[in-house]
Amino acid sequence: MSKVGIDSISFFTSSMYIDLASLAKARNIDSDKYYKGLGQYQMATPAVDEDVVTLAANAAANIVNDDNKHEITNVLFATESSVDQSKAAGIFVHQLLDLPKNCRVIELKQACYSSTAALQYGLAELTRNPKQKILVLASDIARYGLNTPGEPSQGCGAVAFILSANPRILEIDPESGYFTQDIMDFWRPNYRDEALVEGKYSSKMYLQSLEECWKHLNTKTNRKFEDYYRFCYHTPVCRLAEKAHKFLGKVNGEKLDDNQIQQHLQAGLSYNRIVGNCYTAALYLSLCSLIDNSKEDLTNKRIGLYAYGSGSVAEYFSGTFVKGYQAHSPKAQHTQRLNNRVELTYEQYKSLYSHQLPQDGSDLDLPQQQTGTFRLAGLRAHIRIYKKAQ
Ligand code: HMG
Repeated sequence: MSKVGIDSISFFTSSMYIDLASLAKARNIDSDKYYKGLGQYQMATPAVDEDVVTLAANAAANIVNDDNKHEITNVLFATESSVDQSKAAGIFVHQLLDLPKNCRVIELKQACYSSTAALQYGLAELTRNPKQKILVLASDIARYGLNTPGEPSQGCGAVAFILSANPRILEIDPESGYFTQDIMDFWRPNYRDEALVEGKYSSKMYLQSLEECWKHLNTKTNRKFEDYYRFCYHTPVCRLAEKAHKFLGKVNGEKLDDNQIQQHLQAGLSYNRIVGNCYTAALYLSLCSLIDNSKEDLTNKRIGLYAYGSGSVAEYFSGTFVKGYQAHSPKAQHTQRLNNRVELTYEQYKSLYSHQLPQDGSDLDLPQQQTGTFRLAGLRAHIRIYKKAQ
């Protein structure tokens, strides 16, 4: 059987952010609580004409082109910020990108974990027909109440990746460890725009699930902790990924010092520190960050990846970088996107936070605020209208 895995990858985030020092000032908190205590510097804030569809379409536009679009047979859209209870958000993206009509499009939900479910289902599908390509879209807007402990861990963004046989970035190992338990650590009832969360409990469950996944994985493979060269974690806040890594070392009888933790994680956290949580996209944003920011060539190196979705489902899996992998993540576009962002004042952030789309079917034209290729132009009779930006 041929190898399967990630063939190309790209991310997209809002063109606006707030520095967490501005938020700290407004909340009368020492900015080091956010910078050092959470490991977060900036937080992407969505524009009024931006939602999970536009974020995902803009991420995918970097890797879907006339050469590969005819091979895409499945679009798997992972999100927990869905725009509709029935229609899959991926259908809008399918239309915007002019993908083939002979294509399946579905949406997957299980908090931040569903992007990894999409990856595993996509890889399984590839073993049935290795000639096809599968587009996975992970897109979310992380939103908590103003002035709550979750507020500094918001963010938004999307990662798009194409799965294929003989992939050009990462060959994914067939073994993985997974773990589910019915807990209420983070959830969002249908009538709410902001998530409800038991923050400390959720962090504890994230760590407990990591150990369970690791143990499960180790019933299937003889690999040891030292067989993994770098590590990517689902990253709600970077400090939690660092703590989790220290904990994983301990589970394996290793006492990792801060230097080792930085060496194992740092390149993979650069983007997450300045984008914030983007739920389903967060683990794959860390992968993008590792690909783009590692100073070392990672060819033939195996990495460990930990996915966690509150509620909860978690999975530990791994993959090995392929020679030339760097060329298939558009680093220059990523850097340009991040460098060209506009910093918001606290007042501007608050005003964007309060923006709401009508819920009564009234028509609305939205001003062009975001700077990607695709935007949410407005609403007509409860229907979202997406357009190419002028
Ligand atoms: P908090 O209330 O800010 O926590 O909540 P804290 O008061 O314990 O402070 C955090 C750290 O800052 C502490 O360090 C403090 O000592 C330190 P620690 O004890 O952890 O090492 N600190 C300072 N450091 C330096 N200088 C200072 C200072 N002051 C304090 N002056 C929490 C943090 C992440 C829980 C909160 O932001 C939250 O509730 N976020 C939302 C939930 C979340 O992200 N949970 C993570 C696990 S669950 C998950 O990942 C799933 C999720 O992505 C959703 C999904 O699956 O869909 C959330």
